[in-house]
Amino acid sequence: MLKARLIADKDMKKAAVDRRIYSSFIEHLGRAVYGGIFEPGHPEADQNGFRKDVISLIRELDVPLVRYPGGNFVSCYRWEDGIGPVEKRPKRLDAAWRTLEPNTFGLDEAAAWAKEAGTELMMAVNLGTRGLQDAVNLLEYCNIDAPSKYAEMRRENGHPDPYSIGIWCLGNEMDGKWQTGHKTPVEYARTAAETGRAMKRIDPSIELVACGSSGSNMATFPEWERIVLTEAYDTVDYISMHQYYDNYDDDTPSFLASNLDLDRFIASVISAADYAKAVTRSHKDIGISLDEWNVWYHVRREDEKRMENMPWTVAPPLCEEIYNTEDAIVIGCMLITMLRHADRVRIACMAQLVNVIAPIMTRTGGGAWKQTIYYPFLHASKYGRGTVLHDASSSPSYECRYGDAPYLESVSILSEDGGELTVFAVNRSLNEDMELSLDLRGFGNVSLIEHIELRSDDIKMVNTETEENVRPQVRKDSSLSSAEGTIILHPASWNVIRLKVR
Ligand code: AHR
Repeated sequence: MLKARLIADKDMKKAAVDRRIYSSFIEHLGRAVYGGIFEPGHPEADQNGFRKDVISLIRELDVPLVRYPGGNFVSCYRWEDGIGPVEKRPKRLDAAWRTLEPNTFGLDEAAAWAKEAGTELMMAVNLGTRGLQDAVNLLEYCNIDAPSKYAEMRRENGHPDPYSIGIWCLGNEMDGKWQTGHKTPVEYARTAAETGRAMKRIDPSIELVACGSSGSNMATFPEWERIVLTEAYDTVDYISMHQYYDNYDDDTPSFLASNLDLDRFIASVISAADYAKAVTRSHKDIGISLDEWNVWYHVRREDEKRMENMPWTVAPPLCEEIYNTEDAIVIGCMLITMLRHADRVRIACMAQLVNVIAPIMTRTGGGAWKQTIYYPFLHASKYGRGTVLHDASSSPSYECRYGDAPYLESVSILSEDGGELTVFAVNRSLNEDMELSLDLRGFGNVSLIEHIELRSDDIKMVNTETEENVRPQVRKDSSLSSAEGTIILHPASWNVIRLKVR
């Protein structure tokens, strides 16, 4: 039995959690839009063609923002193709995903869908094949209430009120050679600064996200951040980070510690941002928008190969990762890392939401179901709002690809009303139980509300349309009725320990 310890105190506050870290992402990619959120004619579709079964799963997750429309897709997208009478909209070749884009779902449909799904759009502009003027036109269409050309166009399309989209991404992964219109750091820095300035002149209320690195392994990281932020510091509000993890070599102990890499990546981006703050003599802090994160590898290489010669079709199944229990534990650990950096990570978008590297799967013409990774995200979104407390935990550790990894991964959050303490905890050991001693004397009276656990006997277990093999269970054998006590964490498990503290 491993022995670990966790001390939390209500006065040891680190930072308020920004609810936008529970955001997500829908790209025109594979069956995310067509056959995912939008499927006219489906028995569950509403009058707009939006799948209500999918919307109810999204509503349960309670995602504050949905990044749209890409991703790599945005870097060759013409947003005007997706507005106005549907029968007049062109079909286009989307070079990013070798797909035929029918444009039957566009900006106005996305805005209506977001409303139905109880979320808001986080809009990305095309800085690949287009640029400043187009970004400003799009912003005018979305946000401006004046008798001007693009605002009038929106009204003529039946939308009198502006959409008031608050967060805008200045392009996507412009550091990546795979990106249409890929740029050097200096080229991108100038484009982002000038585009951002022009956009804020049209609507000063918006917030802007500059592209950061597409992963911790990019050759230009962290020079990219230094150069971009030194140029655009005053104009932008956030720097993006993208990070996907894999278990290609089936090294599960290392895979389960992937968030140690994420932790270092975040710390380095903060350092680069703070360096730019010093150089520019600024007083503001740049926030982090981790606007693509997930596990992605099960079908990635196959898809890349298949795409080389794929015929041009609408919504070919792409990036349809089927997630298992170990993936869900990695997701839980990544969420813990984001929460620990709540003072700087203000936005995070799980990539993506439906069918494409997603917590929600659908069958075109069929059902919708929850993948394993749905659950840690749900738990964090539901119970991980309030204030993150400083960590004081200790646990034995093991050596892995990322160095020394503690068996215990945890974070404690005090609810907004101060009446509930939630401890998210992972036992990374594959075969040993962990006795977790909790020292919560700083809270006075403490009692367990419930201990929720996600695990499976076979760590590679997955969910399907008909069988939900991996789902959370309430641990009946756990108890805690005072400020000190122990809870047993099973091997390779994600745990939500909910405590009443008043
Ligand atoms: O989320 C899938 C893809 O991953 C996005 O289009 C791109 O930004 C990233 O490389």
